[in-house]
Amino acid sequence: MAEQLTKKIEQIVRKVSGIEHGPVVLHEPFFNGNERQYVTDCIDTNWVSTVGKYVNLFEQLISRTTGVKHAIATTSGTAALHICLLLAGVKPGDEVLLQAMTFVASANAVAYCNATPHFVDVELDTLGICPERLREHLKAIGTMKDGILHNCKTGQPIRALMVMHTFGHPSRLLELKQVCEEFNLKLIEDAAEAIGSEYHGRHVGHHGLLSALSFNGNKTITTGGGGAVLTNDDGLAQQARHLTTTGKVTHLWEYHHDCIAYNYRLPNLNAALGCAQLEQLGDIIMKKRVLASRYKSEFARVDDVSFFNEAPGAKSNYWLNAIILKNPSREKRDALLNNLNADGIMVRPLWNLMNRLPMYKDCPAADLSVSHQLEDSLINIPSSPSF
Ligand SMILES: Cc1ncc(COP(=O)(O)O)c(C=O)c1O
Repeated sequence: MAEQLTKKIEQIVRKVSGIEHGPVVLHEPFFNGNERQYVTDCIDTNWVSTVGKYVNLFEQLISRTTGVKHAIATTSGTAALHICLLLAGVKPGDEVLLQAMTFVASANAVAYCNATPHFVDVELDTLGICPERLREHLKAIGTMKDGILHNCKTGQPIRALMVMHTFGHPSRLLELKQVCEEFNLKLIEDAAEAIGSEYHGRHVGHHGLLSALSFNGNKTITTGGGGAVLTNDDGLAQQARHLTTTGKVTHLWEYHHDCIAYNYRLPNLNAALGCAQLEQLGDIIMKKRVLASRYKSEFARVDDVSFFNEAPGAKSNYWLNAIILKNPSREKRDALLNNLNADGIMVRPLWNLMNRLPMYKDCPAADLSVSHQLEDSLINIPSSPSF
């Protein structure tokens, strides 16, 4: 059974990727523009570190691409999330709601603030947090004290909701924002995987008070390593810039720092790569969407799996394509992962859920039945734009 399905999946991946023999990797960077020219320019002019024209240009280009007023380039998406949480007012002892089905960086950023992740479930249609079930959960476990939601079980304030756009598929931002308004929660978007994705015609990153992007090497476009904080708020943007540049007070020669801050600003070298990549974003998204539609029509002929398709109102960047096993079991999933990887088709399961990791296993959690179901059934398949 697993052997037959392995064969079908391998045939489809090889047909769609055009790679008949040898390895097919999960996601490769696509360097097809001015990358060499811009990086060489940094070396030739000695502007390689955190000051230089490409950092500012990169921020302007991100802002133009997303439509969000301010973009602050950071050394990673994790650093960007950390800054988002601090500026949203997350304090030691607070709880932050986020999906258990995410990459560990989302939960780690909460822990960096000495706050506690509080895990909630996702829905099958978007792979993002289910707003209706979130509301029910908060009604069941929460109480308002002086206008701040508190967890009745732990006694701690619940300060913020961090929404993640899984594999580039936008979560239901409008409904989730509504829940935030009902319970006075700050909304943060973990848009690390979602550059180029839109929700009801607008780029993601608009609905959150603050949002984070990632430009890691495995993402849709890359700066090698890097990220960005997005916000439409002028004051928060100024604070984000200050916090990511060691809290240095601007002065021609004096070294004065007025707070404990971070060395999180993206170097010019990385930003140069990012500028060249952003110039090609439209082309890359088009290639990725064509790839997704080819997978979709191929998998429509396979009974045992379904291809994960964008939800109504969403335009996904299809960062990582995903298939869902119709009659899942852990054994079946693992057999497929073993067989396909052994054949050179790089496929991977979901991240281990955050509530299963040793450092987060005792954190507060809602019912996570959909996440558990997806753990056994979801497989990411090769998704490079170069196919
Ligand atoms: C959902 C999510 N959040 C945060 C991050 C962290 O980004 P980075 O690797 O740039 O630190 C990533 C990806 O790596 C991610 O997938």
